[in-house]
Amino acid sequence: MNVDDILSEMSAEEKVSLVVGAGFSKLVHGASGETRAIDRLGVPSVVLSDGPAGVRIYPARLAVEATFYATAFPSEIALASTWNLELVERVGRAIAEEAKEYGVDVLLAPALNMHRIPLCGRIFEYFSEDPILAGEMAAAYVRGVQSEGVGATIKHFVCNEQERGRMYIDVAVSERALREIYLRPFEIAIRKAKPWAVMAAYNKLKGLYCTQNPWLLTQVLREEWGYDGLVMTDWMAGDDPLEQVKAGCDLIMPGDEGVLSRLLEGYKQGSLSKDVLDRRARNVLSLVAKSLKARGHKASNKPDLEGHARIAHEAALEGMVLLKNESALPLAEKARVALFGRGSYWTVGAGLGSGHVHPRYVVSVAEGLRERGLDVDPDLEKVYASTVHRFPFPSASHQVFKQMREWALRGGDTWAIESLLNWLAEEILEWTRTVNIQEDPFTDDFVDEVARRNDVAVITISRVSSEGFDRAPAQGDFYLRDDEQRLIARVSQAFHKHGKRVVVLLNVPGPVEVASWRDLVDAILVIWLPGQEGGRAVADVLLGRAPPSGKLPLTWPKDLLESPAMRAYPGEPKHDPVQVVYHEGIYVGYRYYDTFGVEPAYEFGYGLSYTSFEYSDLAVEKTYDGLVVKFKVRNAGSRDGKEVAQVYVRALASRLDRPFQELKGFYKTRTLVPGEEERVAITIPMEYLAIFDGKRWIVEKGSYEIRVGASSRDTRLKAVVEIEDDVYFDLSRGA
Ligand code: BGC
Repeated sequence: MNVDDILSEMSAEEKVSLVVGAGFSKLVHGASGETRAIDRLGVPSVVLSDGPAGVRIYPARLAVEATFYATAFPSEIALASTWNLELVERVGRAIAEEAKEYGVDVLLAPALNMHRIPLCGRIFEYFSEDPILAGEMAAAYVRGVQSEGVGATIKHFVCNEQERGRMYIDVAVSERALREIYLRPFEIAIRKAKPWAVMAAYNKLKGLYCTQNPWLLTQVLREEWGYDGLVMTDWMAGDDPLEQVKAGCDLIMPGDEGVLSRLLEGYKQGSLSKDVLDRRARNVLSLVAKSLKARGHKASNKPDLEGHARIAHEAALEGMVLLKNESALPLAEKARVALFGRGSYWTVGAGLGSGHVHPRYVVSVAEGLRERGLDVDPDLEKVYASTVHRFPFPSASHQVFKQMREWALRGGDTWAIESLLNWLAEEILEWTRTVNIQEDPFTDDFVDEVARRNDVAVITISRVSSEGFDRAPAQGDFYLRDDEQRLIARVSQAFHKHGKRVVVLLNVPGPVEVASWRDLVDAILVIWLPGQEGGRAVADVLLGRAPPSGKLPLTWPKDLLESPAMRAYPGEPKHDPVQVVYHEGIYVGYRYYDTFGVEPAYEFGYGLSYTSFEYSDLAVEKTYDGLVVKFKVRNAGSRDGKEVAQVYVRALASRLDRPFQELKGFYKTRTLVPGEEERVAITIPMEYLAIFDGKRWIVEKGSYEIRVGASSRDTRLKAVVEIEDDVYFDLSRGA
């Protein structure tokens, strides 16, 4: 496709039609959108589909027998917990291979908003509270996706950190915090991986919808950063498509006839110029020209689900974070395990909303443990089986689905019904996994008997979360319910009486309160929303077949209100907020906890292993472009392990306010056997040391402490480097 030639032949109507999406996809059922084709000019329609944890399309279509399952990978928060860029790149590639085989040209992922508040309903879809970790993760993900010829979309640009009021809330944030914390991951991903698309967010920024904000979409994104890809709106964002196109959106999604005629009218009346329309249409055409569709690729509808399941398994393993382990783990092979908690039998694989995926299966903890040879207590399982099957709704919806299919095969308008049924069958099913049921229906004698006949107790606490709603600051969500607390207390008491250990698995989208009960148990493993291979990965980590090596990509608070941004949550007025002030400025996550001496439950970058690591031989070299931080990591324990080494930088003096320290680089070692050592060299580009002084980026002259460690609070090596002169960057070289 020659973009210039095609553009020169297009009528104004055709150009406008390119800029307005064609609605939810008809070509690939369940995909969120597609562009409009222009048949006479050979411009195909390209398909766009969510989302971060796998390709989100309907697994079942009314009119065909075949299924269209997609691999459910761990959610982004779990991917970031791996701190393993190479692995995340492979996940991106695998998702794109599936997109490709299902006829999806552009993936609506990864999401790059920040973990600003623990209650964000989409926290599982975002990587981290740290902009460099989030940006590097996103760049790796995008590289993987685009290596397959599928476009990646970084979203939601910018400041979509909560779901309350997300369609209209106005975010007030200082320009320094905006640039250093919220824009920076986008900037890093763009510079390092050139995503094909950026999705402008629903919310407002400083009074204007992000989709209608020329400062954001044109000045910062295109002029300062030199971005030359496509900008799309989030679905049904903003309130004026004409303003969106003028501000910098190339593609209004999902698009409908109303939007189309408003834009055409605007064009005819002269409020949308030919020049702007040409630029927008050109950006859409350029993306279409790069697409697999334009290059004649034919979807097979047969992706390598088995191969991708192996990658999902590996990512789930590496993303699990061991918070506590007092001689409980690893378990002995063939241990007899008493599995408590409904999540043990019905493990939540994925979050809900556009971040959901429809896999062929989700391996529960019970299935995974049994498959790996552990002896799961059958009587206990029977108790849970009866409560799990108390919910007839999901299976009923599958039956309705079958009947509707019969009907559809005889002819009828099937699309809306198909959407509804897929939603009922898949998302409601996931949601019912965490519906409030009593977790401690047992008598004392029963628990005592179970403790006597098993070697260890494993209790799973599950939560799900969804786009569109924030998590609740209440029992059953951030806090444990009374029955869950009682279950933990009673099981711990009984097992400890018999000299046996208790392990808690947190099957959660983001942090939950742990401080009130963690002393009762011996081990805590965060498994997040681990994707379809979750149960197998849990078994491998519990048994030590794979060493736990994940670390927290966010601070795990003791309680909600200590988290700095919670004080202004959800904004004003409280019952229906229209404005939220990011009053904590740059002090997001550990930047706040470390600077103001607040003790979290577990700090940023924290995670245990079954072995221990020693750090030595720190040397910091200054180069023209930045710093190279060299040191050695040695496995000093008695089991295999992988370490995530982190480099924080602390300015010893500054003219501006500064967080105590900031992450500037990290590295995950290969698996080290006991006694083995790896030499690490982490390059920190000079731009990463820069702060925004209100006008430009500056690395102030002065002394900087380089702090190398196993977490943000476990510093093992330190050195000081001097920067002799101020170094300035103009806005185009910020990150
Ligand atoms: C979400 C986006 C998603 C889009 C299309 C919106 O509601 O915010 O993340 O890509 O829907 O499904």
